[in-house]
Amino acid sequence: MNPLVDPAPRGPLLGVNIDHVATLRNARGGSAPDPLQAALAAVRGGADILTFHLREDRRHIRDADVQRLREQSPVPLNFEAAATSDMLDIIEQVRPQMVCLVPERRQELTTEGGLDVRGQFERVHDACTRLARAGCRVSLFIEAEALQVEACAASGAPCVELHTGAFALAVEAGDAARAEQQLQRLRAAVEQARAAGLRVHAGHGLDLRSTPTLAALPGIRELHIGHALVGHALFVGMEQAARDFRACIERAAGAGR
Ligand code: PXP
Repeated sequence: MNPLVDPAPRGPLLGVNIDHVATLRNARGGSAPDPLQAALAAVRGGADILTFHLREDRRHIRDADVQRLREQSPVPLNFEAAATSDMLDIIEQVRPQMVCLVPERRQELTTEGGLDVRGQFERVHDACTRLARAGCRVSLFIEAEALQVEACAASGAPCVELHTGAFALAVEAGDAARAEQQLQRLRAAVEQARAAGLRVHAGHGLDLRSTPTLAALPGIRELHIGHALVGHALFVGMEQAARDFRACIERAAGAGR
């Protein structure tokens, strides 16, 4: 089975972001906890894709982690990176199945906003061309904004990943009106992207409360989830945490049909 072909009854594919395990490891400077071991446990629990972000400052995932994941992952890798020439060189050597281009600021705690594809069109377009040549399926991580979706469609990238952070925060705060407003934005962007022929992914800030709504939203093919899943794993273990998110997606996708 090709895991990138969506098994429709299961809802969106689950990409598990393992950066947070590396953050914990690096806090002590040793080798534990091992992000690869966590990644393999997530796959046993139902992760369809493994996601990681190699940052310029290597604050969590490091080059050696990427090599080990490439050699040992039984599922496709989604390599998140800024569209810099150093990163593109590394990606061309690693040749992951998927690449997600993200903005990157050193000071940020996590990827705070979407990529300004419209504002840096030439740079993003050139990166998409290079990565397609390397055999990587590219997605662009953007805010759910019409002009950004339009720029993605023109960029040559086959996929977009919509930033769900504002929606997830509204759900977490129990602000139903704001959550609904953010959901409408996401829904409009999903429809626009699909109409333009783009495959749609979503992620950022999702937890067990906000994931079901997105899993049930028609047209989303992948959800990429990290912080809340790794946090949940502290209490139930990584394998079970991935299983819980996978079950949450399947329940919501089933209920949405
Ligand atoms: N998608 C992208 C593009 C990201 O940069 C991140 C954070 O690294 C995620 C998804 C996952 O976000 P979170 O860790 O908040 O679930």
